[in-house]
Amino acid sequence: GSNSMWGGRFAEGPASVMREINASIPFDKRLWKQDIAGSKAHVAMLAARGIVSGEDAQAITEGLNRVAAEYEANGVPVNMDLEDIHMVTESRLAELIGPAAGRLHTARSRNDQVATDFKLWVRDAIDEVQAGLAALQAALVARAESHADSVMPGFTHLQSAQPVTLGHHLMAYYEMLKRDRSRFADARARLNRSPLGAAALAGTGFPTDRFMTAAALGFDGPTDNSLDSVSDRDFALDYLMAATQCSLHLSRLAEEFIIWASQPFGFVKLPDAYSTGSSIMPQKRNPDAAELVRGHAGRIMGCMTALCVTMKGLPLAYSKDMQDDKPPVFEAHDLLGLSIAAMTGMVETVTFRTDRMRALAESGFATATDLADWLVREADVPFREAHHITGRAVKLAEDRGVQLADLPLEELQGIDARIHQGIYDVLTVDASVASRMSHGGTAPAQVRARIAQARTELSKA
Ligand code: ARG
Repeated sequence: GSNSMWGGRFAEGPASVMREINASIPFDKRLWKQDIAGSKAHVAMLAARGIVSGEDAQAITEGLNRVAAEYEANGVPVNMDLEDIHMVTESRLAELIGPAAGRLHTARSRNDQVATDFKLWVRDAIDEVQAGLAALQAALVARAESHADSVMPGFTHLQSAQPVTLGHHLMAYYEMLKRDRSRFADARARLNRSPLGAAALAGTGFPTDRFMTAAALGFDGPTDNSLDSVSDRDFALDYLMAATQCSLHLSRLAEEFIIWASQPFGFVKLPDAYSTGSSIMPQKRNPDAAELVRGHAGRIMGCMTALCVTMKGLPLAYSKDMQDDKPPVFEAHDLLGLSIAAMTGMVETVTFRTDRMRALAESGFATATDLADWLVREADVPFREAHHITGRAVKLAEDRGVQLADLPLEELQGIDARIHQGIYDVLTVDASVASRMSHGGTAPAQVRARIAQARTELSKA
């Protein structure tokens, strides 16, 4: 038969493939809480404005509470004939309370309804991500604090560059996540206007109060253009773009853990709880969780791209293409949540092999810049010339198979007569990191100061 919600002008029901391509209930059932909340706000407003009777409004509200209780207990029934969460809920309401249910949809369309539900869902999703990121930041700060003095090689081009501290390296990720959180906060603030009451596209002739429903749903106010209200999915894109950028950061940290866990590096032992073994090679400990975080970043970016491509070129106002907005957002959110949780677990429990980090920091001529800087400071050598002199010292050490600090003074003086005993003070990795006192530098004192600020930031946000 034809559809009971809109079948008045239809003689025949849909083809079975139509039913299948049209239905969003398999995924949009995730919006059920938001859908019930939106309907309750809407019917309360309709009653306040005299558009439905107080009696009907009460029956509808109580009925919606019963539907919610059923969903809570048994899940949402996936009825493909009813297409989406809005119709599944309304039809169950009608079964429970009878014809009064038909008054709920006055002065509303599924177009403003779905935009409202989805905004509410994304708002909750952002709050969840914020909590997850705060926990990951706290884990980074805690580990950084214990390793504010642990020296490791700092890299550029993945070549040993200058010594840094592990605490400083971990705090670099704190900063990235801080920016991610500010992007999510921006997205939340921008999202927070209510489309409810824009109706199908043009607004409504009923004497509604969109400010009332907006306030009831925790929005800062109603949106200002009915066409934009039902066509806008910027909020979903903002979420996906923030999620994408966040996932890139998680992926970089995951990648570092993967490299660091490899035998040639040996900087970390990843916890058993986040590793897997091999069915054939008994010695293996594979960093699967980190690899999946790295992999998930690609999928999250794919979700973002998918919705961009869905939205580009859509004429105003609603088109059914927009129903495809939800799967990529749900998928990205699930992947991001898992990624954040896995990285938090790994950061909390990874074993750092600081002896190995120190040994490698001491072995890569990583204090060559310190030697050059010393020549500039102590012997007034122009930096370019100091760079050249130091290059010769590195070459000499490399030929001898020793470290810079092991070269005898006479040999160094053979390269440049201005070098004296004082040079040895700057050639150790500890002296090198301690000297990096510029704001944001790797000196343990700087790192500790930043950690203290970070703790304050975390206690506020
Ligand atoms: N299931 C639809 C969606 O997710 C709801 C809106 C339907 N509106 C319409 N005009 N067919 O987008």
